[in-house]
Amino acid sequence: MSRIFEFGGADWEASFSAKERADALNEIEQGKILYFPRLGFAIEEHEKAFLSPETVGKSKNVSFDAATGDLHGIGPAVADVEALRSMMARFAGRAAGLVARLLPEYSAALVQGRTSFRPVEAAGRASSWRKDDTRLHVDAFPSSPVQGRRLLRVFSNVNPEGRPRCWRLGEPFEPMARRFLPSIPAPFPGSAPLLQWLGLTKSRRSNYDHYMLQLHDRMKADMAYQAEVDQVSFDFPPSTTWLVFTDQASHAVMSGQYLLEQTFYVPVEALRDPATSPLRILERLTGRALV
Ligand SMILES: [Fe+2]
Repeated sequence: MSRIFEFGGADWEASFSAKERADALNEIEQGKILYFPRLGFAIEEHEKAFLSPETVGKSKNVSFDAATGDLHGIGPAVADVEALRSMMARFAGRAAGLVARLLPEYSAALVQGRTSFRPVEAAGRASSWRKDDTRLHVDAFPSSPVQGRRLLRVFSNVNPEGRPRCWRLGEPFEPMARRFLPSIPAPFPGSAPLLQWLGLTKSRRSNYDHYMLQLHDRMKADMAYQAEVDQVSFDFPPSTTWLVFTDQASHAVMSGQYLLEQTFYVPVEALRDPATSPLRILERLTGRALV
């Protein structure tokens, strides 16, 4: 089974044929990566100074909110904050345009989340096994519940030294969930409002979020699974772009430096086939509503 579906487009403004749009929708909802090997995000001459680990502080990412223009995580070495903000805004706009043209079915319901710039080497940066993204996982974040919404992410490798972003890609969502679900206890009654009251979550952690976090953790904690599960390595060279539902596709980032990423939230109801979503798969496997 191929985990990658390739597009020839080399232009951020290009439109797509009906066949390309239908393929994109079908393939991404099956958990595949939509890969644009000829589509690079151009870093302007005056922005090249930002291609340095000094651009970030302790958080290791610069994060940008396209709705408000807020920029977080910048290091003290950044002299021209406005130029950095404008680079982030340009990528946010490019990513939104690409998604609007390639996956217009989502447009009405899509919510644009944070834009992030990651100038730190991905290999060896993890501080704990739970944060170790070199282990296969599906995305789920403890403090940011999604209540079933999908995580659609657009990535561009902007490495100026010719170095690829090296991923591993694991098995489809359902066999992974079937493997780990039986060992996951139901959420402790009353824990969701407590977590929110304590400020540990930004909104109510739904049962869906509980199961997704547990799957994320159990995948990463199981070193035999990491070694033995059906998987492939895939390297994304510089000046390439890819889109994927990272809550669905098992992935691990082995190495790479200088990446731009844009997150979008997609309600399950906006999918062409909601049955392919982690929410509907987990509801079917647990036999209960999870949001
Ligand atoms: Fe991830």
